[in-house]
Amino acid sequence: MVNRRDHAQLFTTLAAEYERRFPASARLNTRANAVLVDGGSHALRLMRPFPPRVVRADGAWIEDEDGHRILDFWQGHHANILGHNPGFVTAALSRYFATGQGLLTGFTDRLQVEVAELLRRTTGADRVRFTTSGTLATMYAVLLARAYTVRPLVLKVRGGWHGAQPWGLKGVTFGTEPGFQEMDSAGLPTAIADQLLVTRYNDSDMLVDQFRAHGDQIACFIVEPFIGAGGMIPADPEFLRAARALTARYGVVLIFDEIVSGFRYRASDTGRMYGVQPDLATFGKVIGGGMPVAAVAGRAKIMNLIGKKGGKRVAFSGGTYSAHPASLLAAKTMLAYLIAHENEIYPRLTALAQITHRTVETAFAAEGIYARCTGYGNDVLPESPSAMLLFPYDDGVTPRTPDAARNPAVCDITLGEEILRIAMLLEGVHVTHGLGSVTTAHTESDIAYLGAACHRVAQRIK
Ligand SMILES: Cc1ncc(COP(=O)(O)O)c(C=O)c1O
Repeated sequence: MVNRRDHAQLFTTLAAEYERRFPASARLNTRANAVLVDGGSHALRLMRPFPPRVVRADGAWIEDEDGHRILDFWQGHHANILGHNPGFVTAALSRYFATGQGLLTGFTDRLQVEVAELLRRTTGADRVRFTTSGTLATMYAVLLARAYTVRPLVLKVRGGWHGAQPWGLKGVTFGTEPGFQEMDSAGLPTAIADQLLVTRYNDSDMLVDQFRAHGDQIACFIVEPFIGAGGMIPADPEFLRAARALTARYGVVLIFDEIVSGFRYRASDTGRMYGVQPDLATFGKVIGGGMPVAAVAGRAKIMNLIGKKGGKRVAFSGGTYSAHPASLLAAKTMLAYLIAHENEIYPRLTALAQITHRTVETAFAAEGIYARCTGYGNDVLPESPSAMLLFPYDDGVTPRTPDAARNPAVCDITLGEEILRIAMLLEGVHVTHGLGSVTTAHTESDIAYLGAACHRVAQRIK
């Protein structure tokens, strides 16, 4: 049982020790704050009093400016299912750069054909187009859906993060209850607040109500088959089946945002594991093999709106660095490897996930602190290599929706986020949202190291 308490004193103690032990990162942070807003370029890479500045990464481990070796579970925003810098990808890139091909931008080449073919083979999509980030991919998918249906409304789920693009920025964070109407950014077009509808993840009844009330005005329903930032929680099979049936009935485009879920459970999309084929899907993270690449993949009828057949009505074009050959070489190398080694990689990830999650929960329980991992499986998905560690206020509760997992009234969010991150760094482990992603580069002894770190952190918290 976690008491509802203020962690300010604990944080001050941890921060003082951290500042003493990470002096080189502290110095760089002073320079960073003078030139970069808040010292960086991505909110989740920052923390109080300052993040460790990392100099190299290899497999499960990273090294910072102060020479600490740190066991990493952030793993490139969950992109690295095989750990940092897999040798077969870096070797392919080195060879490529050595031949004068790596920075060949601005042309069409063989690589994008080959990666698109791999994506079609593994996901069942008719057509593919590449871009540079998951954020752009989801934005283009929504543009395609709105143009295809000639309707204004976009339905998403509460807690669903689709990148910082206009049609993703409502109902992401949990400020106040019920919170479905909050916009997550200033500066958006005013009309967008009314064009975004927010429903509850894994709540089929609420989904039915949304379609009954607005179905003929909804352009698309965008949803993750395994929600990432919303809690690392699998979709209930019934919820995705309801989503498919309702979108079909009302002529709505179903978009699966597979930026997190894609190729995490198998060398394919996750939708097909549920037996549900979306109209459009977005991919990123894992497929890039550590390089920036994302894709929209889907039905030719919708995707063609980008091209000549569809009168180029949707401007999913441009992008100086889109389909960058170095990124696509990494993608091709990674996808080919995942396909060839599917039967070893994914069962290994599941087994490691189970060990990791039980180890962490047990370490906190030993000190009387109730902690629960998300990332659990269901009838379709096995236990996930990606999980959050949560501290529910009530013993015995396993949060199974974003509304519970990310809700400060249900879980001690300050403990799971800020306190755990700094306390674990002092023990040589880097976590985000309490935990993160285990990869094939992590070993059983790494997990034992994590367990011992959790135990010492639990003692401090207690
Ligand atoms: C589900 C989902 N969609 C889209 C994005 C945005 O992707 P990117 O960070 O590559 O822009 C993210 C990023 O974490 C994500 O988790």
